[in-house]
Amino acid sequence: MLSQDLQAAVKLLQHGECVAIPTETVYGLAADATSASAVAKIFTIKNRPTFDPLIVHLAESADVFKWVTDFPEKAKKLADHFWPGPLTLILPKNNLIPDLVTSGLPNVGIRVPEHPLAREILRQFGKPLAAPSANQFGRISPTTAQDVEKELGGSVSLILDGGACRVGIESTIVAFPEGNPTILRLGGISQERIEEVIGKVALENRPHARPQAPGQLAEHYAPRKPLRLIKTLLELKQLETAENGILYWGEHLVGGFGKSLNLSERKNWTEAATNFFKMLREMDESNVEKIVALELPEEGIARAINERLRRASHQ
Ligand code: TXA
Ligand code: MG
Repeated sequence: MLSQDLQAAVKLLQHGECVAIPTETVYGLAADATSASAVAKIFTIKNRPTFDPLIVHLAESADVFKWVTDFPEKAKKLADHFWPGPLTLILPKNNLIPDLVTSGLPNVGIRVPEHPLAREILRQFGKPLAAPSANQFGRISPTTAQDVEKELGGSVSLILDGGACRVGIESTIVAFPEGNPTILRLGGISQERIEEVIGKVALENRPHARPQAPGQLAEHYAPRKPLRLIKTLLELKQLETAENGILYWGEHLVGGFGKSLNLSERKNWTEAATNFFKMLREMDESNVEKIVALELPEEGIARAINERLRRASHQ
């Protein structure tokens, strides 16, 4: 049920139940991060394999020391700069975080979200919340409370409605293997912005992939309809038929497609990110048979959208 009732949400969390909450990136399916039995419900509701670790959300940056055993200098710099906001830091966890949260890994992903409702619920609950995106595993991430209802409506009792997500794509994840900052997933904060703060960072090219989960890649963020990612305007022209829908950007002429959605006419990639999952979902729900998406330039936050398009594409 969609609701604005913060007290009801806190109460459910206190009883070890899951609640869908808004964040500035995408909606999350939240549960008490310190309770293995509450966290287990997230995996069940999402149909998510337990080898895929969850991100833990905190109300305040200062709280991070309660849950980790080390906070490297560069991680701290990033936190000071980007928290609250769409950045997740992978840090060594202490034993207050159940192993189920991290899929048995020694490190935990932590972020302080910026969305006022997310912060308020964290404050009132008083404990960290584990929350993956509130979609069925492998499906399109939800950026409105209505989208969550479509994904999980039957199995989550309360969806806290905080409006449309400002950022629209998930947080950027940064790990520090042997002290070397490494981006594990491109997201709401671009590599360029991170490098402005801590210098060169590595990019691990298989964001969601874990060695244990090779098959996971192709399925992620996937619409039900086949999605084909194209690079050139020549391909675009060849696929321009009424059966196909086009997800594009800029000022291209796309009149011959059955449906056309423009991520950002003025090529503003922040705007494109905000629109991305929303438009992908709209395309999936429309009556075109196939989705065609035009790759974005490999720059800034547009790279994070390309990453998701690559993994959403299947024939
Ligand atoms: O913006 C976001 O990050 C959203 C909102 C709800 O906060 N959350 C989100 O969660 O995107 P999820 O579960 O859809 O993606 C979490 C991903 C995992 O699939 C994994 O790739 C990575 O984060 N991750 C989490 N914990 C990790 C860990 N300890 N080590 C390595 N990767 C981790
Ligand atoms: Mg997800």
